[in-house]
Amino acid sequence: MTTFAAKTVGAAIDRLDGPDKVTGAARYAFEQPVAHAAYLYIVQSTIARGHVRAIDATGARALPGVVEVITHENAPRLASTEDPELVVLQSNAVAYHGQIVAAVVAETPEVARHAAALIRVQYHEEPHDVELHAGREGLYQPDPENVGFEPDTHHGDVESALKTAAASIDVTYTTPHEHNNPMEPHATIALWEGDSLTLYDANQGPHAIRGDVATAFGLEPERVRVISPHVGGGFGSKLFTHGHVVLAAMAAKLVARPVKLALTRQQMFALVGYRTPTIQRMRLGTDNDGRLVAIAHDVTVQTSKIEESVETAAVVTRMMYAAPNRRTSHRLARLDVPTPTIMRAPGECPGVYALECAMDEMALACERDPIEFRIRNEPERDPGSGKPFSSRGLVACLREGAQRFGWQPHTAPAKRRDGNWLVGTGVASSTYPTRRRPTTASVRVNTDGTYRVQIDAIDIGTGARTALAQIAADALETPLERVRLDIADSALPRAGGAGGSMGLASWGTAIVEAANALREKLRTEFAGNVPAEGVEAYVEVGRNPLAERYSMHAFGAQFAEVRIDADTHEIRVPRLFGMFAAGRIVNAKTARSQLIGGMVMGLSMALFEETVIDKRFGHFANHDFAEYHIASNADVLDIDAAWIDEDDPYVNSMGAKGIGELGITGTASAIANALYDATGLRLRDLPLRLPFDI
Ligand code: MOS
Repeated sequence: MTTFAAKTVGAAIDRLDGPDKVTGAARYAFEQPVAHAAYLYIVQSTIARGHVRAIDATGARALPGVVEVITHENAPRLASTEDPELVVLQSNAVAYHGQIVAAVVAETPEVARHAAALIRVQYHEEPHDVELHAGREGLYQPDPENVGFEPDTHHGDVESALKTAAASIDVTYTTPHEHNNPMEPHATIALWEGDSLTLYDANQGPHAIRGDVATAFGLEPERVRVISPHVGGGFGSKLFTHGHVVLAAMAAKLVARPVKLALTRQQMFALVGYRTPTIQRMRLGTDNDGRLVAIAHDVTVQTSKIEESVETAAVVTRMMYAAPNRRTSHRLARLDVPTPTIMRAPGECPGVYALECAMDEMALACERDPIEFRIRNEPERDPGSGKPFSSRGLVACLREGAQRFGWQPHTAPAKRRDGNWLVGTGVASSTYPTRRRPTTASVRVNTDGTYRVQIDAIDIGTGARTALAQIAADALETPLERVRLDIADSALPRAGGAGGSMGLASWGTAIVEAANALREKLRTEFAGNVPAEGVEAYVEVGRNPLAERYSMHAFGAQFAEVRIDADTHEIRVPRLFGMFAAGRIVNAKTARSQLIGGMVMGLSMALFEETVIDKRFGHFANHDFAEYHIASNADVLDIDAAWIDEDDPYVNSMGAKGIGELGITGTASAIANALYDATGLRLRDLPLRLPFDI
């Protein structure tokens, strides 16, 4: 692995696609012009468990403009039913409320929607089970083979250490169902030409969608092309393929016309995933010196009946702080609900919430300042894996952040009062793993001195397009203006998606390696002269072998000021500050935007976000923006993010750690801890709601 000298990398360069976006020239999936398109509208189940007995589509079919009604009776059979999420209309079984049970294709979106409302579905309903609570029946330990991680870990003897600890806590935190709500609803246009399928699709990684759709239809991957030049966010809900994409392709095949499908906001609540609720028991104990002797994190979460998916909330506790006796566990309930998906910092986001509130509680219980307590329990190596950290900037972030924020050390809640406001401050750590995926890329130089970089990367609004061009320019030692970058098309060299904060790290590394290969080729084969037809280099970059030797994570410290109206108990967050250590920052402008974006989502999680299941029917009752509240501009006041310079030669060719998810971790804890500082009340259930009497 080689590195390069940063010139444009690090600069606060405006988004290269900014003008296209603000003028409306940037086309999102649904806006792609397609001749003779028909429109698809989905009909969803109104029961949570059972099967469809009969569908009466007479009224829908009679409506002028209706092209076709699709049900399990006439839907094309899929070649593979391996991925339960993609098995659309293959049987009459209903596994959750809101499942796709029929669809209408019509000449206009309005006719399709109207016709869908005329379809009468009769069900055979069976009793459903949709409620997660602690100690409920049927909780089980998932098989590591199926879920891809070890659910339980033990080191030493937590129980005895807690019994003999000088101080200890045993507390339970909960987080509710939360829904990914990108600005752009999920949308797909499906277009068949013979046996070849083109999808204009809103997703976080075209290659993955291509692979899944090809498998579902039994096609060679080369017969499917997924094109996604602009995507309006995803937060994880667009990383994996969902059933509506398969449905759109199915419908286009059935009616032998291109089909356009855009989910409504309400449909998204059942069809594209959400974050499971979590129940997290935290047990911590300290000795007389304020050092942790034990730390235990036991997590209960839900999955669906059709698929096993686990929110890995306790994994962060394996790595974060030193303690000789440690334990983590994950237990799962299988319910008649849609399958949860990944949502910004899956695992870490709710896990850090519980851990960092528990650390605050423990610090004050053993009479230590929360920052000093964290520094005191800083591990020398990753306590879970025993590996050294490739770099670990937590202490630097806590110290530097404390200074910039104006942290006042304390060992008890300050309960300050400013007029009618109760005022408090809180701190919490942030962290997210630094990983990389195998990736390919090609770079071509032309005789006019311009370069063309090709890679199936994607920009879901993060600024990746701009940051990758900067990386390419520096790797090629050329001005940014000479770099042409093609991304977001599965016809380009294979790459993984924008997920797990791995996008830039993976794509950037492949681009740097391709640039180096190109220069080497030019030097050795062409004596440095570009021939008339240009020169191209293609590389395949594998996993990072150094990940076996080092524990790789980004860190941060977040600080919140909370004000509570003494009469109304309204909770405001006038100040949020995040100090981060995430290796080399590639674009100072888009990076700050990613970090404060994560913090805004953390603020939203702390104060507002909660989807409520109506257990009588098994559906998400507040499935729209009127009732699922998300932080708006008026909720975000003085917010800022900064970073320390961190040189990490091990993570990737740029030394850059991912930042898409780091910002959301810890924000809700800092706010909950600040609320305690203001009131002396420890609220452990999100979203934070004060009782009537405080
Ligand atoms: Mo992110 S939840 O890995 O898209």
